[in-house]
Formats: sequence, C-alpha cells, structure tokens
Amino acid sequence: MSEPRTLTINILRFDPHDKNDVPHIESFKVKEADGMTLYVVLNEIREHHDNSLKFDFVCRAGICGSCSMLIDGRPGLACRTLTKKLGSTITLAPLPLFELIGDLSVYTGKWMRGLNERLETWIHDKESSFNVDALEERMEPEVADAIYELDRCIECGCCVAGCGTIQMRENFVGAVGLNKIARYHLDPRDKRSDEEYYEIIGNEEGVFGCMTLLGCEDVCPKELPLQSKIAYLRRMMLKTAL
Ligand code: SF4
Ligand code: F3S
Ligand code: FES
Repeated sequence: MSEPRTLTINILRFDPHDKNDVPHIESFKVKEADGMTLYVVLNEIREHHDNSLKFDFVCRAGICGSCSMLIDGRPGLACRTLTKKLGSTITLAPLPLFELIGDLSVYTGKWMRGLNERLETWIHDKESSFNVDALEERMEPEVADAIYELDRCIECGCCVAGCGTIQMRENFVGAVGLNKIARYHLDPRDKRSDEEYYEIIGNEEGVFGCMTLLGCEDVCPKELPLQSKIAYLRRMMLKTAL
C-alpha cells in the first residue's frame, strides 16, 4: 500500500472585526486519510493546529448548505469534497459576495433571508390563507415531484459565488432566486398571476439580468436544472410582456 499523502492546505484568513488584521494565507500540513473530506481536514486543523480557525458546518451531509467555500477557486461544499479528488496542495477561501464573518465563515443566511423576503418565497393563497380547517388542494404527483426537485436547493450560495453577473449587478437575484420563483410558479397553490411574477423578476435584477454564463449550474452541489428553469422563466416573462 502506498504511503498516505501529506496535504498542504492554504487558507485565506482574515478577521474583519480586528482592525489590525489583513487578509493573508496560512498553510497547514495534514496527513490524508481514507475517505477524507475537506470538512474533516478543517476539523483536524482546528483541533491540532489552530483552534481559532473559523468555518461553518451543521449537517456534514450536504444538506444544510453552510460549509460552502472556494475550493481551489471553485465554489463547493467542504463536507462533500473528498481530498482524493484534489491535488496535494489545496487552497481554501471564503465565498465571495457574502458578508465575511471570519476566515472561511460567511453570512449566507442573511443574504438568503433578504432574497426570500424580496421574492416573497411563500405560498400566496388569496382566499383561505388562515383557514386551518380548509382541505389541502389535491396535487398531481408529477407536479409534486417537479416542485420537490426544485425544493432541493440548500441555499448554499455556490451559484451566487459562481455567477459573474452579480459582480456587475449587485441586486441580481442569481440562479438561487430564479430557481425559487420557478418553484412557486409551478405550485398550483400559489395564486400569483404571471403579471405579478413579472413585477418581481421581469427586469434586469431578475431573469433579464442573467447573461447565460452557466457557472451556476456547473457549481450547484445539488445538480439542480438551473439552466432549463431560467430559460423557462425567460420564455414565460417574454410572453407576459407581449
Ligand atoms: Fe446552492 Fe444550487 Fe441552491 Fe444555488 S441553486 S443555492 S448552488 S443548492
Ligand atoms: Fe449567472 Fe447562471 Fe445566469 S451563472 S448569468 S445565473 S446562467
Ligand atoms: Fe451541511 Fe456541509 S455541513 S452542507
């Protein structure tokens, strides 16, 4: 059996709350183990090298979306990235565009909350909103499946970090926002009209801002069909505008 590799982990470190700190790279050596993920690497660094290292995680299973970061320059989830898929020198940096908490920890939750409030990502049932006794409307299984597929978004922010448009249009809702709108538009319980959807995303901060750069779908760890959903929304919006 071959000797395990020694990995060099370069981490971009910075504490924005310490006015004496400046962004800098720190390197750590870690012995690779079988089935090792970057999440395990980071824990090892925190345990054996530097317990001040900041990074986020909750589920360790690609479900919560909190461990997203730049891995060799590409957005991804630390807990779903095996070191064996990477070279022996790995560079980690926080996701750009989101508020930096420190080191690899960013405040994606704040950005996502703002997005959800802006797009009103909840069922708009104009008639019986608060009638708890009302029977739920029957839904065809194919429709439920299609909604479930889009509901798999874990709000990790990888598609936002991988999208060049947001660098130019800071209020662009990104693939995550467009995916959410596609999800609610599919849902027969949501009674918003196409014109109301147009008001929300029929503009340059919405579907007409997307320049089809395709980075979003490339980096989405849940492999959501972002491209086809954006194309569908664009067609729907153009039809509404005519
Ligand atoms: Fe993450 Fe994909 Fe959702 Fe974007 S669409 S936030 S990349 S899961
Ligand atoms: Fe950005 Fe994806 Fe459109 S990367 S420009 S949202 S196709
Ligand atoms: Fe939850 Fe990685 S820790 S997605």
